[in-house]
Amino acid sequence: MRASIIVVIGLLLLSSPVSSLNNGLALTPTMGWLHWERFMCNTDCDADPENCVREELFMEMADVMVNEGWKDAGYEFVCIDDCWPSMQRDAEGRLQADPKRFPSGIKKLADYIHSKGLKLGIYADVGTKTCEGYPGSLGYYDIDAKTFAEWGVDLLKFDGCFMPDWRQLGEGYMNMSRALNQTGRSIVYSCEWPLYEWQHQQPDYEPIRKTCNHWRNYGDVYDQWTSVTSILDWTANHQKILVPMAGPGGWNDPDMLVIGNFGLSHDQQQTQMAMWAIMAAPLLMSNDLRKICPQSKELLQNKEIISINQDSLGKQGYLTLQVASFEVWERPLSGNRLAVAVMNRQEIGGPRRITINDVSLPSWKICNPKCNVTQILPKYQDMGIQSRVSEIVVLVNPTGTTLFTVNPL
Ligand SMILES: *[C@@H]1O[C@H](CO)[C@@H](O)[C@H](O)[C@H]1NC(C)=O
Ligand SMILES: *[C@@H]1O[C@H](CO)[C@@H](O)[C@H](O)[C@H]1NC(C)=O
Ligand SMILES: *[C@@H]1O[C@H](CO)[C@@H](O)[C@H](O)[C@H]1NC(C)=O
Repeated sequence: MRASIIVVIGLLLLSSPVSSLNNGLALTPTMGWLHWERFMCNTDCDADPENCVREELFMEMADVMVNEGWKDAGYEFVCIDDCWPSMQRDAEGRLQADPKRFPSGIKKLADYIHSKGLKLGIYADVGTKTCEGYPGSLGYYDIDAKTFAEWGVDLLKFDGCFMPDWRQLGEGYMNMSRALNQTGRSIVYSCEWPLYEWQHQQPDYEPIRKTCNHWRNYGDVYDQWTSVTSILDWTANHQKILVPMAGPGGWNDPDMLVIGNFGLSHDQQQTQMAMWAIMAAPLLMSNDLRKICPQSKELLQNKEIISINQDSLGKQGYLTLQVASFEVWERPLSGNRLAVAVMNRQEIGGPRRITINDVSLPSWKICNPKCNVTQILPKYQDMGIQSRVSEIVVLVNPTGTTLFTVNPL
């Protein structure tokens, strides 16, 4: 261990976030379901009625969310992504849903979602067109905010494609934030401002936090292990900027959970779930809840992991150590507790052991004089009472993560 230990960071614990968007929302990271990664822009309802973007898809997801424990686990928002609108605004310049795929209209869909005790999210774009070429909101921010509020929408994902002058991205996002506020309706505001600004310069995050409830920093997640690791690597490389910005009301958004799809092994799904909890990320699943396997369902509904994600202190976790292809991440929790994730980044061989003590994990010192350690992944296990001088050995599968909490006694 000696020479190869890289202690990444020590001072992030001390920073406190700048003030957030004052709309009283997203005091913990948003939880729900979002159609994009799994269903994309599938508009061919004649050939593929089960999987096309139409009102039944969202109603069926809402039904399953209520009937299969998702709502009870905390997943609350049913979110529409791109490809819902008609290509034409109406005579009064308002967005309207595609009449063939959403014949009842968004207001009826919102009523249905609300009748289930859930909330509805919708999608629009700060520029002239959405990423898939549907009408953009530039020049229509007030009208669109008002339309969404009248429909009873509870969350807006605002994309950043087709902004004619990228220098106006911030102004556009701020104008829409103001327009949403002026509707008087509580609408969670999910932005992609920094993602699009990073393509030109390093964004100033303070105005972003004052404008948005969460914000995408990095490209879209794919149903693929290297996509998950590229998001984690990018986040770790920028954690000095990102971590201090997270807190109640405003969160860094590393994009959707792709657990329950095709591309990740079970260990990799555990890694995504553990790391999204460590990163205090919005938990927006994109999968088919109508046919998800029991193992992925159990992981996504794991109460201990969700309670780390939703911890009231609202501090985002960070990478503390890289050694021998292990990564150790920690997240300070309320009650002076700590969540720790140990990832095995080696993609060859079998499970490997790492010793956790006050050298590999400087925050182990909170275990003073004693603490109770509980392993949550890969399996729930009481690791017993430890002391400041204890060492515990954790076993981590290739591309997997061992997640545990340290609770001072
Ligand atoms: C934002 O609002 C201001 C004030 O109404 C306006 O002058 C500006 O053009 C708007 N910018 C964008 C990108 O909509
Ligand atoms: C609008 O902003 C004001 C001032 O920040 C805030 O007090 C109010 O709760 C906001 N209203 C909504 C609906 O977000
Ligand atoms: C330690 O944690 C385990 C699992 O959370 C719990 O069952 C046990 O009661 C705890 N022990 C003490 C002394 O707090």
